[in-house]
Amino acid sequence: MGERRGLKGLQKQCSATMLLLHRAVVSAFRHACRFKSTSSKLCIQACSTNDSFQPQCPSLTFSGNNSSTRGWRVMGTLLGLGAVLAYHDHRCKAAQELPRIYTREEVRSHSSPETRIWVTLGSEVFDVTEFVDLHPGGPSKLMLAAGGPLEPFWALYAVHNQSHVREILAQYKIGELSPEDKAPSTLKTSDPYADDPIRHPALKVNSQRPFNAEPPPELLTENYITPNPIFFTRNHLPVPNLDPDTYRLHVEGPPGGQSLSLSLDDLYQFPKHEITVTLQCAGNRRSEMTQVKEVRGLEWSIGAISTAHWAGARLCDVLAQAGHQLCETEAHVCFEGLDSDPTGTAYGASIPLARAMDPEAEVLLAYEMNGQPLPRDHGFPVRVVVPGVVGARHVKWLGKVSVASEESYSHWQRRDYKGFSPSVDWDTVDFDSAPSIQELPVQSAITEPKDGATVESGEVTIKGYAWSGGGRAVIRVDVSLDGGLTWQVAKLDGEEQCPRKAWAWRLWELQAPVPAGQKELNIVCKAIDDSYNVQPDTMAPIWNLRGVLSNAWHRIHVHVRANP
Ligand code: MTE
Repeated sequence: MGERRGLKGLQKQCSATMLLLHRAVVSAFRHACRFKSTSSKLCIQACSTNDSFQPQCPSLTFSGNNSSTRGWRVMGTLLGLGAVLAYHDHRCKAAQELPRIYTREEVRSHSSPETRIWVTLGSEVFDVTEFVDLHPGGPSKLMLAAGGPLEPFWALYAVHNQSHVREILAQYKIGELSPEDKAPSTLKTSDPYADDPIRHPALKVNSQRPFNAEPPPELLTENYITPNPIFFTRNHLPVPNLDPDTYRLHVEGPPGGQSLSLSLDDLYQFPKHEITVTLQCAGNRRSEMTQVKEVRGLEWSIGAISTAHWAGARLCDVLAQAGHQLCETEAHVCFEGLDSDPTGTAYGASIPLARAMDPEAEVLLAYEMNGQPLPRDHGFPVRVVVPGVVGARHVKWLGKVSVASEESYSHWQRRDYKGFSPSVDWDTVDFDSAPSIQELPVQSAITEPKDGATVESGEVTIKGYAWSGGGRAVIRVDVSLDGGLTWQVAKLDGEEQCPRKAWAWRLWELQAPVPAGQKELNIVCKAIDDSYNVQPDTMAPIWNLRGVLSNAWHRIHVHVRANP
């Protein structure tokens, strides 16, 4: 600012003093040149709101020749310079006062060091390229927001909501969002997915329509409870937009009995039951199975799994109110979602009645997820949560519950989510020959370091998750740094769980010395549950045409930074 004031003084002085001595002119001009470059810098900073803005300061050279003609020319130039500088200064101020306007599209296109890294907060746009390496949480965390809004990340990491953080950010402001783009955009109305909710930008999208996405591994195990905005999402259809006031859950009664039509308030009247449950999609880690041989399905990495604290009415209480009893031992409880395809076919699935009626199985008609109403992507206003069972049975946007002698006739119960021998292909598959997947096998994966990363020599910290279906507790996670030749036992973190009701994952960590001279590590993990089930060592023997149940040892390869 001091330099700026000095510059203004100089400009005034210059305009008023046509008869300055040549030496004075020269010396003033020398100053001007110095100020000019400072000014240009200032202007570039102040005006960098404008991508295309070119500083208008003329490029001047001072020859050092002191002939009087040249001197006057220099004087004229100086006066011109004064005007130009004043004009430039004015432009810079104007640029400050009238910030440059950007569209969200423009912001989105600045998401890498090559294009520069822009983010938004509210209606303001920031170029944080120079700050990325200084980010206290690490560059990779800030890069998750590159090209988009910071709010979802600041909501996850409340530490950002402090004035000094805003002050730091303010230094990188380059402009404002255009008025049309200030509100989060909705998709085009002709699109069946137009009404889908806005998603968290950290999610790694495997398919946009229907929306399927998983959190990046390093965020997945940052918290024991997965924050709602980054909980993996598996949708087969557009997300219905349901009115909680008119919502009704239809529960069919037994033959001769009465059916129920329950509003949300009716559901709230049942005893509220709360449990922490991990949900895993049958296709989690499919991308590794694909490496053995092609399979049909979305390329999930290791993030089609998440953990939440759920609250709702117990299904057994609701079924009992409708008059159902546990007598039809082979019977099934069928669920229907309120999401449907263009033919009106809804998503559906079923679980055995025995599980549904067992209070110890704790099957929920959940209306809360981590203390909040369910987010739309996760089934607002009511979904089924079936602890220990594959995600496909946790029917979202629940519209109907019925008891039948046979499994749900839904495609997703009968023609999908089943396991087959590696010998079965699409020409020979007989879906009726295999039971539908219910309880999932033991699973674990490494979330840090990332595959292909470079780790420091000395010591390496390895993190991950482990979980098993059916309420079986994970009792141990073994980790190898040499591809499975030798093993070390990881430390298990996370909540202690009741025997036979270990519905949620354990996070685990191992700090291990890196053997001297080692240039690379083949890190492997495997979990063991309380039935002593252990993950298979390779994918090939469990390969199946749909790429489900992919739970072989998880392997990553990292480089070790050479000691200087
Ligand atoms: N329920 C309905 N109505 N529609 C769906 O597409 N997907 C199922 C299940 N429930 C689905 C559904 C599948 S395959 C999974 S893995 C889980 O929801 C995913 O739940 P999430 O999106 O809350 O993580």
